Amino acid sequence: MGHPAANVEGKKILITGGASGIGAASALLLAERGAKVVIADLSEQAGNEVAEQASAKGQSIVFHKVDVADGESVRALFAFAMEQLGGLDVVLNNAGIDHKPAPMHELSDDDFDRNIAVNLKGVWHCMRAAIPCLLPKGGHVINVASVAGLRSSPMISAYSASKHGVMGLTKSAAIEYAKANIRFNAVCPSFTDTPMVQNTLAQLDERAQNAIIKASPMRRLGRVEEISGAVAWLCSDESSFMNGHAFTLDGGMLA
Ligand code: NAI
Repeated sequence: MGHPAANVEGKKILITGGASGIGAASALLLAERGAKVVIADLSEQAGNEVAEQASAKGQSIVFHKVDVADGESVRALFAFAMEQLGGLDVVLNNAGIDHKPAPMHELSDDDFDRNIAVNLKGVWHCMRAAIPCLLPKGGHVINVASVAGLRSSPMISAYSASKHGVMGLTKSAAIEYAKANIRFNAVCPSFTDTPMVQNTLAQLDERAQNAIIKASPMRRLGRVEEISGAVAWLCSDESSFMNGHAFTLDGGMLA
């Protein structure tokens, strides 16, 4: 056996939004490297398919349905994960949505409220539920924010506000729980090729599509495996001195 980087063997990991895109890619990579993973998502069918893909290879992913916008649903999820895994080492708060690009004065109440409810309050629900589970032994909470949580994001202002909020939660909790050895970090990708982004691209004309693709100096979308590889490192003990920061994966956009 070699000595793989980002060793997550035996780690007990809960991933929200694990049925698709970055969450599914992270779950599959972590399970392949020997982690025991619970994925949670609104989408039962897609979630069960990801779990089946892993079990077909003898790897460990179990699906549980959740709506992260609902605090009771999140409490039930954490009780399930603690029971299923016999504890928790890492929580990846990845479930999220975006909204149709629009200038701020044309944004609907519904788009604004829903982005805050899922992306910001949903992450808070999960952090609140995760902390008591991690207090006895320490652990790591990884929140998937975005470059939109670090800088201006014209036309997606509600999304951007929700992701800036996630950065605030991440940094504050990192200080509050440092003594308890619970770390909090954020992952901040730029546009990455997932169903979420493909759905956005499909609503735009060619000029706007190219603007998104070329927003990164590398002039391409990120690939999910470029995000999941970083997530795996964060889940491993190799990240043990990183706390309260953004792990930015953007091809140089913010450089
Ligand atoms: P995706 O749409 O492929 O996957 C998101 C998953 O979250 C879906 O399976 C969806 O069912 C689930 N979900 C949505 N609302 C939920 C709720 N209320 N409760 C439980 N599950 C829910 O999207 P993608 O791109 O993989 O996004 C994952 C995360 O990465 C999101 O937080 C997103 O904001 C963030 N992100 C994505 C970027 C991208 O370019 N794809 C860039 C930066 C951040």
